[in-house]
Amino acid sequence: MRKKFAMYDVPSLEDAKKRKFGETAVLNFTLDAKFKELGKGKTYVMKAYGCQGNLADGEKISGIMDSMGYTEVENDEEADVMFFVTCAIREKAETRIYGELGRLKGLKEKKPDLRIVLCGCMPQEEVTVEKVSNTYTQVDIMFGTHNIHKLPEYLYESYTKNLRVLEVFSKEGEIVEEIPQKRGNPYKAWIDITYGCDEFCTYCIVPYTRGKERSRNPEAIIKEVSALAKAGYKEVTLLGENVNSYGNDFQDRKYTFGNLLTDLAEIGIPRIRFTTSHPKDLDVFTMEVMARYPNIMPHLHLPVQSGSNKVLKKMNRKYTREIYLEKIEKLKKLVPSISITTDIIVGFPGETEEDFEDTMSLVTEAGFEGAYTFVYSPRTGTPAATFTDQVDPVVSKQRLHRLNEVVNAGFAKGNKRFDGKVVSVLIDGRNEKKEHLLRGYTRHNKIVDLEGPDSLIGKLVQVKITKAQTWNLEGQIID
Ligand code: 5AD
Ligand code: SF4
Repeated sequence: MRKKFAMYDVPSLEDAKKRKFGETAVLNFTLDAKFKELGKGKTYVMKAYGCQGNLADGEKISGIMDSMGYTEVENDEEADVMFFVTCAIREKAETRIYGELGRLKGLKEKKPDLRIVLCGCMPQEEVTVEKVSNTYTQVDIMFGTHNIHKLPEYLYESYTKNLRVLEVFSKEGEIVEEIPQKRGNPYKAWIDITYGCDEFCTYCIVPYTRGKERSRNPEAIIKEVSALAKAGYKEVTLLGENVNSYGNDFQDRKYTFGNLLTDLAEIGIPRIRFTTSHPKDLDVFTMEVMARYPNIMPHLHLPVQSGSNKVLKKMNRKYTREIYLEKIEKLKKLVPSISITTDIIVGFPGETEEDFEDTMSLVTEAGFEGAYTFVYSPRTGTPAATFTDQVDPVVSKQRLHRLNEVVNAGFAKGNKRFDGKVVSVLIDGRNEKKEHLLRGYTRHNKIVDLEGPDSLIGKLVQVKITKAQTWNLEGQIID
């Protein structure tokens, strides 16, 4: 039987709920000299799941590992350290991680020196800590979303004391700048602009796992994007749970998301995207900036979640169907070709057939060109998990199927409008299933497959669309 965790700090969803106001301290990451050789001759595998924020965190963890001399490898069998950057948004995401951990029990027995590290959102929940502590004893190190920068210390402790190390802060600490980020792509980058979320949508675990909303200073973001532009990057995606509330926490100045977009667009990097937007906070100034700068891409991911005002209220989304539709109308006037995509939850507690029909009609009315659709998943610690009017899962599933049909029709329609047109495509790589084709994204975030040499990867090319299908476009390069 393996030892229990040496616990330095354990999570509490109840404590995580409390918000303290005021400016957040900014720290600069530095690597202590005693950790510099820690990874010499050792390897690691990185597995990051879920949102782009998690993928960006994975890049930071990889950056820290490389700075200690570790080498990244692909194969589990070759790894000395394995990372799981986990997602807690729905139960399914967590079940998958437990499945992966279960399969590693044998490997850990064969290789007792292997270090299995669980981080990301799951360790922020008490239930995870309890379960992993007692049942998943193959896990050696667990830390949360607020203390990535302390990873070198945790590995050091694990090696020198042979303890299982657990440290999770419930309260967000500082913003830590200068963590070396190992970017997975030499021409497309994710840029965190805010951390955490203060919205407390009643179904959502994120405000608990990622803490209070904190905006990075514009100077740090501008410096980062300028350096990427100089290094030849073609595209940046600005990340935050609610990018539109960027800057609300600044005490000493008024500087909003619209200001940030303006300053970044002026740098001249060819493509700027951002996610996720909140309909409540999307303002006209931001829309005008989107209209003004051709290097801000004409695509907006604007999660609506439901088309029923009753459900929206119970979700604590703080807007109505009408306000949502008005905002996108305004945006379509300013950016006429814009493509709008969304997130929708079905089977939220108390959702009736009529409420669901409101969602169905909204999808058509809004003209969504894509949507991530989900069955509501109760998350322990959130208000909605205690609501007594939970929807029968069979009904929810049927609704999801019906919704997907309408959503897919919108997807196809969105692609169709580019049939025969010439579009600009940033080539990403090879189509995984059809290796002879290159794959890339248009300004409107549509997928295009085309023939061409590897030398075009990372380049912007002009493509004539020859075929529009539901999920992708096909085209030919024009010179
Ligand atoms: N159940 C189902 N979907 C959820 N989302 C967030 N929390 C839940 C939940 N408990 C969805 C929302 C959000 C997206 C990232 O995940 O639609 O926009
Ligand atoms: Fe979750 Fe709502 Fe925050 Fe999005 S805005 S992360 S759905 S609480």
